[in-house]
Amino acid sequence: MMLTDEDVGLVLRCVHEQAGLVFEPEKRYLVENRVEKLALMRGMETKPLLQALREGNNELRAQVAEAMAIQETYFFRDPWFFESLRMDVLPSLIRRRSAERSLRIWSAACATGQEVWSVAMLLEQIPELAGWDIEIIGSDFSPVALERARSGRYSHMEVNRGLPARELATHFHRRGLEWEVGSTLRRHVRFCAINLIEEWPQLPRLDIVLLRNVLIYFDADARREVLQRARGVMRQDGFLFLGGGESPLGAVDSFRPGLSGRACYYRLREDV
Ligand SMILES: C[S@@+](CC[C@H](N)C(=O)[O-])C[C@H]1O[C@@H](n2cnc3c(N)ncnc32)[C@H](O)[C@@H]1O
Repeated sequence: MMLTDEDVGLVLRCVHEQAGLVFEPEKRYLVENRVEKLALMRGMETKPLLQALREGNNELRAQVAEAMAIQETYFFRDPWFFESLRMDVLPSLIRRRSAERSLRIWSAACATGQEVWSVAMLLEQIPELAGWDIEIIGSDFSPVALERARSGRYSHMEVNRGLPARELATHFHRRGLEWEVGSTLRRHVRFCAINLIEEWPQLPRLDIVLLRNVLIYFDADARREVLQRARGVMRQDGFLFLGGGESPLGAVDSFRPGLSGRACYYRLREDV
């Protein structure tokens, strides 16, 4: 169904207020498509749905933001990032944390969880980490995405995107038509709901923060605010990773970039 300019404006304002996300006006087709799908799911026509949104229905506002969020993700997305973890970042942290033998990693905006499970699989491959106290926290603002992440269940098509056959055989088992993550990976993983533009719950001091492929959808103020807060939850010698098209430079000056192969990470500057 064709929406009026006013309808599109209403939806985009809601998405911005709820999640900090901004869409260019050319994304009108996306708004129409997602609103129509949401109306179908709720068993409503589009017009009454928009009317309820106009009247400020809070549950609907959250669902509209969730419906508009881009949740594209897959296993071992950006192999150079995982290579950098394996070759540089984890060896460095293993040296630095050899006394406490503990690691805290946060995948903020983890969508349906493939990033979290991929990191968990990578850590399993590193013998030096056996017996360490490890926690990988996955979070997202979307309850639907989080539920899927937590279930650890993926379709054939999803496991075919990036998951090596060896990892599939080692860490997943068949459950009906899907594949389900086994208990070894679950030991170190927990998921929780965090809206990055709202107040964050108490988080442990983090060794690695992954804020990949989400800042790109935020406006400049939200980007700056989220990066500043990320700085506050990182350990002084921790590592921040962003998505390929994202950078803190120009938004906050607390980070300095480092290169590891094709991957770029950010560390806290000592002088800021
Ligand atoms: C493109 S996915 C990125 C997934 C994963 N990090 C990756 O790189 O493959 C972006 C995720 O950001 C989430 N997101 C968008 N706005 C958010 C917000 N304000 N707070 C938390 N998560 C948000 C979306 O729900 C979506 O799951």
